[in-house]
Amino acid sequence: MARAALLLAALSTLVAAAAAGGDAPPGKIAVVGAGIGGSAVAHFLQQHFGPRVQMDVFEKGTVGGRLATISVNKQHYESGAASFHSLSLHMQDFLRLLGLRHRREVVGRSAIFGGAHLVLEETDWYLLNLFRLWWHYGIGFLRLQMWVEEVMEKFMRIYKYQAHGYAFSGVEELLRSLGDTAFINMTQRSVAESLLQVGVTQRFIDDVVSAVLRASYGQSAAMPAFAGAMSLAGAQGNLWSVEGGNKLVCSGLLRLTKANVIHATVTSVTLHSKEGKALYEVSYETEQGHNSDFYDIVVIASPLPLDNSSSNLTFQGFTPPIDDLQGSYQPTVVSLVHGYLNSSYFGFPDPKLFPFASILTTDFPSFFNTLDNICPVNISANFRRKQPQEAAVWRVQSPKPLLRTELKTLFRSYYSVQTAEWQAHPLYGSRRTLPSFALHDQLFHLSALEWAASSVEVMAVAAKNVALLAYNRWYQDLDKIDQKDLMHKVKTEL
Ligand SMILES: Cc1cc2nc3c(=O)[nH]c(=O)nc-3n(C[C@H](O)[C@H](O)[C@H](O)COP(=O)(O)OP(=O)(O)OC[C@H]3O[C@@H](n4cnc5c(N)ncnc54)[C@H](O)[C@@H]3O)c2cc1C
Ligand SMILES: *[C@@H]1O[C@H](CO)[C@@H](O)[C@H](O)[C@H]1NC(C)=O
Ligand SMILES: *[C@@H]1O[C@H](CO)[C@@H](O)[C@H](O)[C@H]1NC(C)=O
Ligand SMILES: *[C@@H]1O[C@H](CO)[C@@H](O)[C@H](O)[C@H]1NC(C)=O
Ligand SMILES: *[C@@H]1O[C@H](CO)[C@@H](O)[C@H](O)[C@H]1NC(C)=O
Ligand SMILES: *[C@@H]1O[C@H](CO)[C@@H](O)[C@H](O)[C@H]1NC(C)=O
Repeated sequence: MARAALLLAALSTLVAAAAAGGDAPPGKIAVVGAGIGGSAVAHFLQQHFGPRVQMDVFEKGTVGGRLATISVNKQHYESGAASFHSLSLHMQDFLRLLGLRHRREVVGRSAIFGGAHLVLEETDWYLLNLFRLWWHYGIGFLRLQMWVEEVMEKFMRIYKYQAHGYAFSGVEELLRSLGDTAFINMTQRSVAESLLQVGVTQRFIDDVVSAVLRASYGQSAAMPAFAGAMSLAGAQGNLWSVEGGNKLVCSGLLRLTKANVIHATVTSVTLHSKEGKALYEVSYETEQGHNSDFYDIVVIASPLPLDNSSSNLTFQGFTPPIDDLQGSYQPTVVSLVHGYLNSSYFGFPDPKLFPFASILTTDFPSFFNTLDNICPVNISANFRRKQPQEAAVWRVQSPKPLLRTELKTLFRSYYSVQTAEWQAHPLYGSRRTLPSFALHDQLFHLSALEWAASSVEVMAVAAKNVALLAYNRWYQDLDKIDQKDLMHKVKTEL
């Protein structure tokens, strides 16, 4: 009893202190989108503002967004983002928090197909296999590795800054604090240009680097160096995914925060004000019709498209108007094909002798980017990957839906084809400036960070940044926003 009383007393002083400064916590927060960005930001916002804040998460499609599964022959398979780098620290935390498990990696070899023949075959289990690469490309691949590692090492500083509560109001400020002008320049210069400069050969770029970029982004070595380096880091082995499906992280985080998930399409955000503070009216369409509600904080956790014609989400009542919505996205089609691979197409007339689980492609005019013999999201202890002569589930990624003739080229025969069409990644080069997270006082755009690099972990980093930005702005803690020389500051802080 005594302890409870003490706790209550302590709590009421805290509340009083907050009230004295006019600093009541926000009443209601809206999050638009329930992909990893929206689910993670709901979780982080609640961590910072406490459990009393009402959290409404609007989702027009399904929870998970680009984390999704498709059922084939009674098993579920990833149809969106498939795997994550081992250093995805926020994602690793979510897994621990939610009691989810890593999915066991089933060993399989990769090769790169150049149209007429395989340009690179993996001898061991990961793509950048040392000996082979050394043999083919000399010192170039070591230089590539050092280049990628340097970017990753600097990027990892973000976790330290975030642990100390620092936030950034724009993508440029964030990148600058991690990698100075070098990171900013890497968003403007191409992968090819940057790699040639550090001594990687054109042949290595054409054969290997562009194949990896096509596989992860569906784009070429002309894409910006920063996003390219982050995706090349993913080609170096040690990938993981979530047992039961990657989207379980999103539904798990939303359940944990007890967020109110509303199945609706948000159509507009309108600015009002209450006692000198901004108040946002979020309008949305449900099956029952049109509705709207007021919020202290709004986070848009979805790409904001180019123009009004492609989107129904508009911003009203803001001066100056919010119109920095340039840039478009790269379509990618994922086809899950249950059938028999045509290994002849890759130069293996006898399917039993086809040793690969993954085929990447170089920039030859290919109708597909990657082809993978995939495992279901739940795998039992005695699971083994299907042999190439058996009917298996293959995941084909292509820029456009596969034609019947193309399916007939890749497969001897098949039972079923199911597809997911995504606006997968920003089409880098379709916008010239780096966007801001802050659209207005307490209106944020989380997906802005996708214009630096697009991955699940990067969106989790963006979610933590936006939650901290909202929190620091709410309590006017301006020393924690857009600070310079953070490496030095976090070293001297305890
Ligand atoms: C085929 C494919 C493969 C990929 N592979 C990988 C990979 O291996 N590793 C990796 O790390 N990343 C990968 N990615 C990228 C990764 O999936 C994305 O970076 C990440 O999932 C984006 O999360 P998000 O929450 O920001 O956006 P999304 O997941 O797109 O979520 C946005 C959500 O907002 C909803 N929404 C949009 N507008 C509205 C509205 N007006 N009202 C209500 N709701 C709305 C949408 O329905 C959607 O659910 C891949 C992506 C694709 C498509
Ligand atoms: C980035 O580009 C600017 C302008 O071109 C240049 O001054 C600066 O030195 C570059 N930074 C690095 C690290 O290359
Ligand atoms: C798949 O894995 C998830 C997470 O471990 C579990 O909740 C689910 O029951 C499993 N499904 C099957 C069919 O084993
Ligand atoms: C979008 O629509 C609003 C009004 O609905 C208009 O004022 C604005 O100019 C439009 N923007 C573009 C890019 O078309
Ligand atoms: C916008 O709204 C109209 C009518 O409500 C709908 O037909 C259209 O598909 C919507 N566009 C998008 C991109 O959601
Ligand atoms: C398989 O690939 C070979 C070689 O490219 C091609 O000739 C054949 O038409 C393809 N399809 C089938 C069903 O064998």
